[in-house]
Amino acid sequence: MQIKKAVIPAAGLGTRVLPATKVMPKEMLPIVDKPAIQYIVEEAVASGIEDILIITSRGKDLIEDHFDKTPELESRLYGTQKYKLHQDILDISNLANIYFLRQKEAKGLGHAVLCARSFVGNEPFAVLYGDDVIIGEKPVTKQLMEVYEKFERGVLGVKKVSSDVIQNYSSIKIDPIYDNIYSCTDMIEKPSKDQVLSLYSILGRCILPPEIFEVLENTKPGRGDEIQLTDAMCIIAQSTGFMAVDFIGKRYDMGDKLGIMKASVETALTHPEIGESFRGYLKKVCMNL
Ligand code: UTP
Repeated sequence: MQIKKAVIPAAGLGTRVLPATKVMPKEMLPIVDKPAIQYIVEEAVASGIEDILIITSRGKDLIEDHFDKTPELESRLYGTQKYKLHQDILDISNLANIYFLRQKEAKGLGHAVLCARSFVGNEPFAVLYGDDVIIGEKPVTKQLMEVYEKFERGVLGVKKVSSDVIQNYSSIKIDPIYDNIYSCTDMIEKPSKDQVLSLYSILGRCILPPEIFEVLENTKPGRGDEIQLTDAMCIIAQSTGFMAVDFIGKRYDMGDKLGIMKASVETALTHPEIGESFRGYLKKVCMNL
């Protein structure tokens, strides 16, 4: 079955980036000149997704506005003959069928995904975490979709993390299948040292089977008193199993101060407009370090 729908949970409180995120959604933080969530929507579209549901919350209306039309701005850009910019701005509102739904309380990533139940219906769907920007030649969601089409099983986007940070992430039990493809039969969110299953962690992308909703309905709040998506995925991992893809792409955590800086610096270095002058500036800064 082809994956046509994607859910982008973007309703978290973003406490790790306060005070920037007191009013501004972290998903709207720019990487040079484009908000994080636009990179994510563009990845979904480039992967062939047609319908996207963004889960928002109070105070996140900016996200909805960003994907709307802006007639006054558009006519000003056209009138001043800034045709390229005019087209870029128009394109944002025509990217895909984008729907919005509010998660009324920040009860966790699992709860945010559960909010998407009636949008998704009875088909497999992609989840792209709203604060994880992944840049690479081939869209990561597409990499996962290809594995889904082959194995017809849920697929996790995974990467190895270092042993000193695995306790802040999920840890999964995996067995190699071929190349960068694995099977996954168990997982745990934020493991203690003796609970670590491997240094592979689920990072930012997955394809979930519709059965996840039934499981989420019955998932009790776990770590941080939130309904953890990992707890629900674990039930499926232990029964039918998941596939896992060690995806090719550079991931930036836009919910983390260092992640935001890495995204900005690395993207600025390759930016067509400012790349060269930024490189010169950065070299000068580095000489004084
Ligand atoms: P995070 O755990 O990184 O988001 O969730 P957070 O709760 O905003 O983080 P901090 O710890 O307070 O900084 C990963 C993704 O899930 C969404 C977030 O918006 C983010 O894109 N999320 C999280 C929800 O949509 N709802 C929630 O209740 C929690």
